[in-house]
Amino acid sequence: MADDKIPIDDLNLLLAEHRALLTKIAELREWATAVGEHGIPRFGEMGTRMEQLRDRLRTHFEEEEKGGYLSPIVEIAPRFAKEIEELGGQHGELLLTLDRFIARLHETEPPFASWQQAMREFEEFIGALRQHEGRENTIAQAAYGQDIGAAD
Ligand SMILES: [Fe+2]
Ligand SMILES: [Fe+2]
Repeated sequence: MADDKIPIDDLNLLLAEHRALLTKIAELREWATAVGEHGIPRFGEMGTRMEQLRDRLRTHFEEEEKGGYLSPIVEIAPRFAKEIEELGGQHGELLLTLDRFIARLHETEPPFASWQQAMREFEEFIGALRQHEGRENTIAQAAYGQDIGAAD
């Protein structure tokens, strides 16, 4: 089944995009922490920055879903099919959660008791996203290393 190999470029692209997303998230967190230290909340600006993250995430998810979500991995390592299906279902939920957060950040009177409360919500979202991406990394590397590496 030599033709079924996951192209190394695809795997590397996925991992590189995940790293780029982590960098983006780290920048956002740094900015939000600095705002917290200055003591004046900037909910609207956080909303705009989160919009940029959402657009980027949407593109990333679309890329992963092209031709069937992580389909090259399902083909080569069917034992991950169930977990991959579960992860695929998270894309919509993650975007919806982010959209709701953004909408509240942009309200004339944002419904957050404090900047810290908005930060907690931000961290909660980031935690869920990181977990999602981390599981994808683990699956992709396991599929590549065990199912393809072993065949070489
Ligand atoms: Fe994903
Ligand atoms: Fe991903």
